[in-house]
Amino acid sequence: MSQIRSLLTTCALCLLLFACGKSTEADPKKESTAASEVTPEDVSAELDITGKWAKNCALCHVSGVGGAPRLGFVEDWEARLAKGRATLLLHTIEGHNNMPPLGYCMSCEEEDFVELIDFMLGESP
Ligand code: HEC
Repeated sequence: MSQIRSLLTTCALCLLLFACGKSTEADPKKESTAASEVTPEDVSAELDITGKWAKNCALCHVSGVGGAPRLGFVEDWEARLAKGRATLLLHTIEGHNNMPPLGYCMSCEEEDFVELIDFMLGESP
């Protein structure tokens, strides 16, 4: 057990050194790309959305309860995406067949739904 722990510590150290080494070697001309790097705010916003998704949407959108399109199944979303994201947003807010209005998320704002839908659409264009 302690061996595993020391191995993990070593790995973490390697990663740290690697990350540090990378930043000192950074080409100053490439500084402008720094803006596209992930910030702690991005990470917490993402956790916030996945948290909201897990608490409210996952209930049906993991296993496909009542015919709900499943997370990670592009084929479940293709025909829906063809209706346009605006329709998907409207159906999320107002409800649609077995999809309850607001998807049970009373604390979600419109922009949360936009992000939740984007999250479920995943790699779909
Ligand atoms: C009680 C189960 C349930 C919950 C909770 C739920 N959904 Fe759904 N959702 C469904 C079902 C069922 C459908 C398929 C409706 C249909 O097309 O007949 C659906 C469809 C959708 C669609 C596609 C609508 C369309 O026009 O094709 C979107 C987008 C969606 N849900 C988003 C969400 C979001 C975002 C949440 C969480 C905030 C959520 N859902 C929570 C059951 C649920």
